[in-house]
Amino acid sequence: MKVLVINGPNLARLDIRDSAIYGDMSYPQLVAHIENAAKTHGFTSDVRQSDDEATIISWLHEAADANTPVIINPAAFTHYSYAIRDAAELVKAPLIEVHLSNPLAREEFRHTSVISGVANGTIGGFGPNSYVLALIALKALTA
Ligand code: DQA
Repeated sequence: MKVLVINGPNLARLDIRDSAIYGDMSYPQLVAHIENAAKTHGFTSDVRQSDDEATIISWLHEAADANTPVIINPAAFTHYSYAIRDAAELVKAPLIEVHLSNPLAREEFRHTSVISGVANGTIGGFGPNSYVLALIALKALTA
C-alpha cells in the first residue's frame, strides 16, 4: 500500500532549526527514517516537502483523486491554514496529522490545529518517531 507523506514549511531546514525542540536529525535523515519505517510496515512511501501552501493543497488533491492515505506534518500551516484543512477533508483514505514536537506544550498559538478536525488522529511530541507511530496507526486503519 502506498502512503503519501507531506511535510510543510521550514521542515527541510531541520539542520538549522532549534535542536532542543526538533531534535538532531537533518531533513534527509528524517526522510530516510520515514522511508525505512514505511518499508518495515509494508508501505511504499512518497515523502515530499514544500514551503508553499498551494503545492501542499495540490498534493492533497492528488491523494484525494487516487484514494491514497496521507501522513501530514503541516508545520506552521497547522495553526491557520483553512485552505489546507479543506483540502485534507477531501481525502477519504485515512489521514494522520503528525508533529515532531508537542505543539500543546509550546506557545499558545500552537495549541490550535485547524487540521485535527479532519484527520483520523494526531501524533506529536515523539520526534521522528511520530511518523513511525503514524505508520503503525495507518497500518491498523488500513488492515
Ligand atoms: C511542527 C510544529 C509547528 O508548530 C511548527 O510550526 C513546525 C513544526 C512540528 O513538527 O513539531 O514547523 O509541525
